[in-house]
Amino acid sequence: MHIFWAFSALLLGCWQVTAYTASEILTDPSEVRNQTSAVLRCNLNSSTIAIKGSYWMRNGKVIENSKTTDSTLYTVLHLDRITLTCGGKYECVFLTDKELKQTIEVKTLPHVFAYNHYEHGYINEDALLTCLSRGYPLPTNWMWFKQEDNPQTAPQSIINGSSNKYEIKSTSNKTTLTIKDLSIQNDNGDYICSGTNEIGRNSDTIHLRVHDPLTAVWPFLGILAEIIILVTIILVYEKRRKPNRVNDDDDSGSAPLKSNCTAKH
Ligand SMILES: *[C@@H]1O[C@H](CO)[C@@H](O)[C@H](O)[C@H]1NC(C)=O
Ligand SMILES: *[C@@H]1O[C@H](CO)[C@@H](O)[C@H](O)[C@H]1NC(C)=O
Ligand SMILES: *[C@@H]1O[C@H](CO)[C@@H](O)[C@H](O)[C@H]1NC(C)=O
Ligand SMILES: *[C@@H]1O[C@H](CO)[C@@H](O)[C@H](O)[C@H]1NC(C)=O
Repeated sequence: MHIFWAFSALLLGCWQVTAYTASEILTDPSEVRNQTSAVLRCNLNSSTIAIKGSYWMRNGKVIENSKTTDSTLYTVLHLDRITLTCGGKYECVFLTDKELKQTIEVKTLPHVFAYNHYEHGYINEDALLTCLSRGYPLPTNWMWFKQEDNPQTAPQSIINGSSNKYEIKSTSNKTTLTIKDLSIQNDNGDYICSGTNEIGRNSDTIHLRVHDPLTAVWPFLGILAEIIILVTIILVYEKRRKPNRVNDDDDSGSAPLKSNCTAKH
């Protein structure tokens, strides 16, 4: 029972504070959606409050050069170029006896980007692909796709956990795709991460190359194999020649030695 009353008092308190500031400061527009530029305006709806100045904040940080010491009832912020990283919670703050502020949300498509655009992996090992997001609002939904080498085919949606091959882990500002047991035939290619927020969707592409760790070793192994075969052939040949040689040695084997000696002396 006590908890119930405490809880409703808390709710009521929050609601009163919100309602109070909302009626004091009027915003225009109330929200910015997918615009390339905007002018944010706040108007204090009171003639009795003494104002010592005003300033603007973005995501809790004071915007440089936005401070004024005017006692005017309104303040304006020009956003000349809204890029995907400019979104956020913009607040106008009036300096009065108590601080009065109001929020205007500036929403853009999410800014989605690969941590690395090129990733490498080795056969039978795992690859980890990462995409990040900035901006406002952050994606509420992440998807991964694979683009087959043939650009005519549509990208294939990757399902989390499917055949123990793929694992997707996502938070609002980051998504990772783990590709297990890599193979050159199936896993080379382009992977697309796609983040969606209430304004829309944005994506980026990561190119994955799977390597055979033995690739670098193959030429050496080739040469080694050649040497082994050669040596084997020579040994076999020598072995088969040996019975003849025993006879030969007596004649031709010692003969040149003799002739050498005779030549020297
Ligand atoms: C502005 O304030 C007055 C009284 O202080 C109130 O009657 C009026 O409704 C307010 N305007 C808006 C748009 O909230
Ligand atoms: C994918 O599946 C794994 C394991 O079942 C789970 O931990 C993870 O949260 C899932 N990811 C998403 C995006 O649902
Ligand atoms: C991403 O979100 C996590 C919490 O979900 C937070 O700890 C981290 O600081 C965020 N990273 C960035 C760069 O905003
Ligand atoms: C956002 O604006 C761009 C152009 O500025 C437009 O192409 C796109 O369709 C808009 N998206 C939404 C969801 O309004």
